[in-house]
Amino acid sequence: MSVTDVTLKAKYPAKAHCRRVAKYLTDAGFPHDGVIYLEAQKTRMVEDDDQAMHFRQRRYFFYLSGCKLPDAYLTYNIPQDQLTLFIPPIDPDSVIWAGLPESKEEAYRKYDVDHVLYSDEVNAASAAYGPSGSTTVYAIPEQVSEHITFLPFAATQFSCLRDAIDECRVVKDSYEVALIRKANEISTLAHIEAAKVVQKATNEQELYGAFVGTCISHGAHEQAYHSICASGTSCSTLHYVRNDQPLRERLNILLDAGAEYECYCADITRTFPITGTFTHESKTIYDIVDEMQQSCFKMLRANIRWEDVHENAHWVAIRGLKKAGILVGDEQEIFEKRVSVAFFPHGLGHYLGMDTHDTGGHADYDDPDTMFKYLRVRGEVPAGAVITVEPGIYFCKFILDPVLEDPQLSKYIDREVLDRYWTVGGVRIEDDVHITQDGYENLTDTPKL
Ligand code: GLY
Ligand code: MN
Repeated sequence: MSVTDVTLKAKYPAKAHCRRVAKYLTDAGFPHDGVIYLEAQKTRMVEDDDQAMHFRQRRYFFYLSGCKLPDAYLTYNIPQDQLTLFIPPIDPDSVIWAGLPESKEEAYRKYDVDHVLYSDEVNAASAAYGPSGSTTVYAIPEQVSEHITFLPFAATQFSCLRDAIDECRVVKDSYEVALIRKANEISTLAHIEAAKVVQKATNEQELYGAFVGTCISHGAHEQAYHSICASGTSCSTLHYVRNDQPLRERLNILLDAGAEYECYCADITRTFPITGTFTHESKTIYDIVDEMQQSCFKMLRANIRWEDVHENAHWVAIRGLKKAGILVGDEQEIFEKRVSVAFFPHGLGHYLGMDTHDTGGHADYDDPDTMFKYLRVRGEVPAGAVITVEPGIYFCKFILDPVLEDPQLSKYIDREVLDRYWTVGGVRIEDDVHITQDGYENLTDTPKL
């Protein structure tokens, strides 16, 4: 059994997460005499149909419970350090269709909780918090059901719980890192399978099917995000979703796909030639992107400023594109005039965890500086964070045409050389790394070229 699987034999550390969030709240000056209240995602029906919609657990609820059941609830009593999970009771009408629901005994065995009650006992159970008359209930206001009264509590605090959990989620514990590693391991098997399929595939959808099918057969029934199975010039569409185009006469595949395992995500991109051999132009761009990633890896350690790593990727891109003859002129001017942003328009990476673009990154999508507008992590990256390192270079007409039409900017681009590169489409290479005190640990071992 792998080290990851041994780690994952234990229960998801819900109590430790409760304590961490409670400490965050009390350190911020909120009352210690409080109860955290959260609800699972509800079962929702498909419009005009009698079937349930695809279910995705609420991340706030999962973080403090490790429970994937719909229609559940939890309370965490901060001074008593008691976590109570409320699970749906048996509904005789649904057993014939869905089988028996999870029992209290199973819940005690599976989850790191102190008490298990039924979900129709939430109001009655919270009455027990009342007598002191000073207890505050912390909740996320849009995620409180109408029948929940909070009557026994002296005060409601609705403004800080979401932010507190968002911030606590940035630094992962060893169990969470193991879950991300497991999602990576399964995704790697799926990337390898998709790369094999390309040898005889005629359409992008065959890679898509191979990737998702392999994830499912290895125990990852959900995807972290919609797979990007792009070929040819579609590789320049950052979040390409069609995955249905013929591969004929196209050069490269860009496969950006990751499994979700027990609510934790992998996010991996590989770019490779359809025929097995890159053209000279594709190889040139691949090597630049590879160097961007390797160079950024070398900077990683606790408290590195993410803007600095992102800028470094731009410098490597500028030097590489100059050497290729696509960019011409003074490198400092190219950097300052943000010409490289037209080739590398997205951020270097984002936090990864229960969400693919995980919480706590403090992106500033209104930043007027185009180099940082889509940088999803701003400021220092602490030890324990998991972050993607995903440089790319793209040849996207929609982005480059306005630059080519602007004489102040087009002077830095050799149009004749550029014209040889449109069919490359785009190259992105993406790994998931765990930041440590002195460096990093790469959680992705998907083969590279
Ligand atoms: N994997 C898609 C993204 O990071 O946006
Ligand atoms: Mn990503």
